[in-house]
Amino acid sequence: MLESLERINISDVKYPFYLFKPKKLSKSVKYFVKNFDGEVIYSVKCNPSRFILDSMNNLGLKSFDVSSINEIKIVKKLFPDAKIYFMNPVKPRHAIFDAYFNFGVKNFAIDHNCELKKIIQETKNAKDLNLFLRISTSNDFSKIKLNRKFGIDYNSAPNLLKEIRDNALKVGITFHTGSQCMNPKAYKIGFRKTLEIVKNSNVKIDLLNIGGGFPSKYPGLKPSPLRNYLRVVSDEFKKILSLNKKVKLLAEPGRCLVSECMSLIVRVDLRKGKMLFINEGIYGSLNNAGNFGFRYPVKLLNSKKNRSKLVPFSFYGPTCDSNDFMKGPFFLPDSIKEGDFIEIDEMGAYSTTMKTNFNGFMEEFRVFLDNRDFKRNKTL
Ligand SMILES: Cc1ncc(COP(=O)(O)O)c(C=O)c1O
Repeated sequence: MLESLERINISDVKYPFYLFKPKKLSKSVKYFVKNFDGEVIYSVKCNPSRFILDSMNNLGLKSFDVSSINEIKIVKKLFPDAKIYFMNPVKPRHAIFDAYFNFGVKNFAIDHNCELKKIIQETKNAKDLNLFLRISTSNDFSKIKLNRKFGIDYNSAPNLLKEIRDNALKVGITFHTGSQCMNPKAYKIGFRKTLEIVKNSNVKIDLLNIGGGFPSKYPGLKPSPLRNYLRVVSDEFKKILSLNKKVKLLAEPGRCLVSECMSLIVRVDLRKGKMLFINEGIYGSLNNAGNFGFRYPVKLLNSKKNRSKLVPFSFYGPTCDSNDFMKGPFFLPDSIKEGDFIEIDEMGAYSTTMKTNFNGFMEEFRVFLDNRDFKRNKTL
């Protein structure tokens, strides 16, 4: 049970902290589940916090995409019956063994024949595996590219798909458009590549997992509405079904489910002109702001009393590294000063999980229930 925001005096909290807005999480999960015609798998890497996983479970999501054995342990400890998809295409041998024999994981992604061999060896020729071939697809529309590292090329895919068919109980294809994908067309391309590869290989697939990538709205990044993405998915999937009616559709959203359900409260420790030195940065939960230029909605807490005009600021984080910089612009009242608190919104995705101890700034972060949200939604 999270503490409620009402109980604290924010100036007593020394470190950055979060507010959780359960209603927003519930809204985004319910929307996705209602409008996506397949199994929704929550991508744990995006935010593995206990209260997020508990909420997902309470909202009916029982499937989880994981990248490591530790993520499997986190999920299985909470929900022993959870269905796990181990979708990191490159896994250590011990993790494959542990996942299969100790946690009952049957779903694995691969994009190379050596990984297939590892899986066959480490599971002792198991006959009950669902293996997904991760194919390469365009990441041109996404803000965070994932295709430099993973995804088998179009020409090599059919042969490996045949090898998978000979070794798996169920054959799947998976792709990822990259995170914060700004155009639904990217999914169309992924579906079309899948269709071609299936035709070229003559393999009947059982599963199609279209990964994550569904975007959130951040200032300056306004993708088309989620319903347009889900419409493209639904239309394109019909073409796959026309080849084989038994294919099951799956997706692994992360960002679009959780981004809006948390905000981060930071303190200004120094102001130098239009530069604010705050107590969180790129080695903490503002990685996406520094490394990918994401701007988040910001507001000065207690700003009602503040009538000064909004002007653009950049942020520096708390470490001694000059790269610990978030360009913004973040629009805040011109009167902002040392000791003020800023609420940075839409911080649910790739935030808490990116924290490091660089320069000794890893503090156990606190999360409070945002009762501004909670009061309006007593039923949650
Ligand atoms: C295999 C896989 N699935 C799902 C996701 C979640 O993506 P997103 O948070 O963009 O929805 C990722 C993100 O890196 C991923 O690598």
